[in-house]
This record gives sequence, structure tokens and C-alpha cells, in this order.
Amino acid sequence: MDSPSLTNIQSFISAHTGLHVDEKDLSATIHSRLRHVSLQSLDDYCAFLATDSPESKHEWRVLYQKITTGESFFFRDKGQFSLLRNTILKELIENNKEKRTLRLWSAGCSTGEEPYSLAIVINELIPDIHMWDITVIGTDINESALDKAAKGIFGDWSFRMVPKDVIAAYFIRRKGHYEIEPRIRRMVTFKQGNLIKDNYPDIISGIYDMDLIVCRNVFIYFQPENISIALNKLTKSLRDGGYLLTGHAELQAVPLHGLMPIAYPDSTIFRRSDKVHKRHTEPLVNFLPPQNIPIQHVPIKKSEKHHSHKTPSTHVTPQKSAIKRAAAGRPYIKPSVLVDEAKALIKDGNYPQVIEKMRIFLIDNPKQSDAYALLAEAYANSGNLTNAAAVCKEAIAINPLDIRPYYLLAHIAAEYGNLEEGKDMLKRVIYLNSNCVAAYLELSSIYEHTGDTAKALKLKENALSILGTLPPDTEIEFYSGLSVKELLVQLNNSYVAPLTKSGMKV
Ligand SMILES: C[S@@+](CC[C@H](N)C(=O)[O-])C[C@H]1O[C@@H](n2cnc3c(N)ncnc32)[C@H](O)[C@@H]1O
Repeated sequence: MDSPSLTNIQSFISAHTGLHVDEKDLSATIHSRLRHVSLQSLDDYCAFLATDSPESKHEWRVLYQKITTGESFFFRDKGQFSLLRNTILKELIENNKEKRTLRLWSAGCSTGEEPYSLAIVINELIPDIHMWDITVIGTDINESALDKAAKGIFGDWSFRMVPKDVIAAYFIRRKGHYEIEPRIRRMVTFKQGNLIKDNYPDIISGIYDMDLIVCRNVFIYFQPENISIALNKLTKSLRDGGYLLTGHAELQAVPLHGLMPIAYPDSTIFRRSDKVHKRHTEPLVNFLPPQNIPIQHVPIKKSEKHHSHKTPSTHVTPQKSAIKRAAAGRPYIKPSVLVDEAKALIKDGNYPQVIEKMRIFLIDNPKQSDAYALLAEAYANSGNLTNAAAVCKEAIAINPLDIRPYYLLAHIAAEYGNLEEGKDMLKRVIYLNSNCVAAYLELSSIYEHTGDTAKALKLKENALSILGTLPPDTEIEFYSGLSVKELLVQLNNSYVAPLTKSGMKV
């Protein structure tokens, strides 16, 4: 086996996963994989991995299993768990007690011991936990580790540091193994994810605005430049003031943009601070096509977006009973009248009233897409992107063909700096409605922003040719009050596009 090829493959794997795999180990692994996939040389294997085929995806999945170290156990690092239990989670729970939400992410969770340990701790810290909206997500690159995690079955080795009373309280002893209590198992969601290649924050997976991210014993296997790549994603997935806990000294070699280290006797923990992060100077896309076209759905107020807790929490379980009571005391109003009322309130910028009305309305009309769209819009416009995204996801579950939630999610994703997800959402809008001018223009803006001018121009041309088929006074969907005629004037004032194709002249 020649060494330059092995070095190539080593770098390629590192760029894809972040992992630095020792040459000797890698050589043995790759040799055995070459035989499996019937390829002759390392270069062939590298080329195969680089293809975007189902076979290469499968091969990566196999490789992940072979090159990762999945060592984990419950309550790993007593000191760090004591810091979490006695200080960090306590503080988060106290600060979140009004909205009753807590959002935790264990990144690189392997077989699940870490997120389950977190779930056990919060279960002990929050007496009325059934009234809370708790998110505990575990992600890992290695799917077979996640399969094991989801089953919640563990051997003795996972309990090295666990007192007997904790085992007795949260695990069911079976023959030769322990099974985690179903109520703790249900608190944790597992998802495959690659901290290097995937985009985070990831609105659809619920990974955004996290209160706490625990990513421990992952970066020890990473090259420093890859730590920075992953760290940037983790930081952006925290809410302002949220915490990141890594393994000890795992961030020593990397710059901490936007994170403030806080040293406790048991461990250092990192707090996201937007004052340090300078979030607003990040290259967010200006979604708007040239000039200030008013976007109907998302005049997001940046200053409020992380902490708009004045509005009630999402219409998730915690406060449903109160809403039900309110709903029960109200006279019947025709759904269409209520929706029209809410539309008028949105126009006036009276978002809290829209939120209240639509939440009550949805109790009796849980399948009303318009109400979801208005509720999401009101949340977004009052700066509460977390709730807006949650409502969009519910709206999609109810009616996957409605373009409004995808459109709004595109804006939310871009607000969080996840342009890939923004693109993805806008493509879905176009897939569902190939005449949605706003989606073409905004997708074009993203491509322009990311330097793909050819694609950007093509999308603008598409928008223009659609506009060419519409009566001049038609109102453009998502650009409230803006007519075809007016949009064309704006577009043509700001850039020269080949209008001749559609025959449109303004
Ligand atoms: C040693 S385990 C740590 C488990 C747990 N966090 C703990 O401290 O007990 C490291 C985990 O990181 C995962 N990992 C490695 N590279 C990754 C990547 N690029 N994205 C996501 N997970 C990754 C591995 O699959 C492995 O399960």
C-alpha cells in the first residue's frame, strides 16, 4: 500500500468527519474494506467515497462504525455532572420556569448514556416535569451506536460510575443487562448527524436555540481545524446565554468566537454571548430582491428574537388546559371570521392578540392550516423564532402541501445563519408551487450571497418569466401589497436581466 494514497485517504476522511485516524489503524481498516467493495487501489476507494451514490453512502456508514470510538458510560465525569446538576441546569430551569421549556443537545452521544444521564438529572430537578416542554436530543455520526441508544438497553460496563440507588430508580434489571425506564427513554430523541458535514443549527431536527449542548470526548479525536468547524456550528445552535460543555481541555487549541469560558472548580463551561459573538455582523443573507420589498411574513426583529418570552409558550402541552378553559368560555365565532380578524390584526402589527386568538382557535380547529400560518407568522414577527419554527413544523405535519410554513422556515433558518436549510426550504416551496416568485427571488439572493452567480441569475430569470405571465396588478404572494408591476420596476431598476425571453417590458 503506498503511503501518499493512504495520507490522501486519511485527509479525505478527516475533512468529512473531523476525525484524525491513525495511519496504522486506517491501513488495516481500508485494506479490509477494499476487499469488501472489490476495488483495487486506495485511490479507487477514495474516488468511490467521493461519489454521491447510495453505495458510497452505505460505505461511509460502515466506515463511521470502524473509525469512531464510542466509549461512553452513565454520568461520565462526576465533577462535570455535579456542575450540571447543582449549577448549570438549576440556573437554566430557574430562568426558564415561566415558559417551561428546556432544550438540551448531546452532540456525539454514542450509545446514549450521556443524553439519558441528562434526562435523569432534569427529571430529578423538575418536580412538575410533565408540565414542561423538554427537548433532549442525542446525535452521533455512527448510526449503529444510535440504534443501540434508542433501544435503551445497557450492560454493566455502562454503569461504572452509577450508584446502586440510581440504577434501581431508573433501570429495569433483565437477564444480563439493564433496560432504561420507558419514561426516561421517551424523553430523548436520537438523530444521525455529522458535526462536520451537516448544517447546524438545524430547524427541522429541532436543533436550534439550545439551552445546553454537551459535546464531550468528541473533539479529542478531531484535528484542531475541524474542531473550529464543529464548534462554530455548536455555538450557532445555542441561544444567547446558552451553555456548551466539552470534555476537559478539548477547546484549548481553538479560538472561541462568541463563547465565554467560565471556570468552575469541577470544570470550565462555555457560555454563548452575542456581545462577543457579534452575531449581526455575520454574513446573513439579505433575502430581499433589490430595494425594500416588504416581506409579508418575516419582518423579524433581531433584537428580540431569542428572548421573546413575553408571548406565551408554544401551544404545546404545558398550557393547553388553560387555553382549553379560555376556549370553553367563549362564544362560537365562525372560523373564517376569526381568521380574517387575525389577518387584520397581523396587518396592524398586533401579534400578541393574534397569538392568543389562534392558540384558542386551534384547540377546536386543530387542522386549520390558515390558523397555523398566522400563528407562526405572529410568533416570528414578535421575535419568538423558537415558537414560530415549532408551529411551522406542526403546520407541515397537518398539511405538507402548504407552502407558507416552508417559506417561513427558510427565513428562520437564514436568521440562524443556516443558508443550506434556507435553500432547502425555498426549493420545497418551488417544488410545491412552481410559480412562487418570492421563493425564486429569495433563493436567487442566497445563491448570489454564496457566490453562485450563474444559479442566482437563472433563478431571477425564472421569477421574471413568471411575472411576465401575470396580470400587472396581481399581488405577489408573501410581498404584502406589492403588485407585479411594482416588483418588475424594482427588479429592473437594480439589475439588467434578459427580459426578452418573457417578452416583458416595464
Ligand atoms: C467517545 S464517544 C463520546 C460519547 C459521549 N459524549 C461521552 O462522552 O461519553 C465519541 C462519539 O463521537 C462521535 N463522533 C465522531 N465524529 C463525529 C462527527 N463528525 N459528528 C458526530 N459525531 C461524531 C463518535 O461516533 C462517538 O460516538
